[in-house]
Amino acid sequence: MPGPKMTAESIRAMKGRGEKIAALTAYDFPMTRLLDEVGIPLILVGDSLGMVVLGYPDTTRVTLAEMEHHVRAAARAKPRALLTADMPYHSYETAETAVASARRLVEAGADAVKAEGGREILPQVRAILACGIPFFGHLGMLPQHVLEEGGYKVKGKNQPEHQALLADADALAEAGAFAVVLELVTPRVAGELTRRLPIPTIGIGAGPDCDGQILVTPDLLGLLPWYSLKHVKPRLNAAEQMRTVVQQWKETVEADAS
Ligand code: KIV
Repeated sequence: MPGPKMTAESIRAMKGRGEKIAALTAYDFPMTRLLDEVGIPLILVGDSLGMVVLGYPDTTRVTLAEMEHHVRAAARAKPRALLTADMPYHSYETAETAVASARRLVEAGADAVKAEGGREILPQVRAILACGIPFFGHLGMLPQHVLEEGGYKVKGKNQPEHQALLADADALAEAGAFAVVLELVTPRVAGELTRRLPIPTIGIGAGPDCDGQILVTPDLLGLLPWYSLKHVKPRLNAAEQMRTVVQQWKETVEADAS
């Protein structure tokens, strides 16, 4: 994709110009290159890696080494997009470990990092930003806490959750995050956050009133036919198309052999 390299500042500036931000995940070289050729401005090497590539039941088991491996593969595509890497669970429990982990992801090729949480991780966020690494927030349903939460639950339905989301979002924006993911936040609260914050809100299952949207790319492409999600309807039935092509090729080979 021609044009200058996207930076945290250029993603943030899109909100000022009223431009919607279409973000997607990638975990390897070809998908990063394809998304970049289409002009996706922000590509996330998400820890959804654990579920959609590595076959774990959730994101809690993803390791920093696994993230580094996939960030390296994605970075080899040299995207114009801002390549952001998720910090896996337990890799940012103190400011010191957060900085060490963020540095490893940047050395692997990430332009920015993302971690889940609000006021409870502010020392870590400030420490990461203090060493010059752009930080992408993540509020609402926090998949790294799915086991404690007992499932993927919509956030912002009651007053305490609503107030907590406002305070966490304000804190991340004031600390210097360049944008924030709102995952499974009620559309009403997501809209309020979008109007309130100076930084872009990037929704996933949070309704249309966000500054941008992010999806797990295999969900968009229909690559995971074994699961269905409420917030995304696949635009392609890639799994079925792949099965058909593989079946046809297998039959051709078998017919040749007889
Ligand atoms: O891990 C991931 O892919 C994410 C997106 C769902 C925002 O965090």
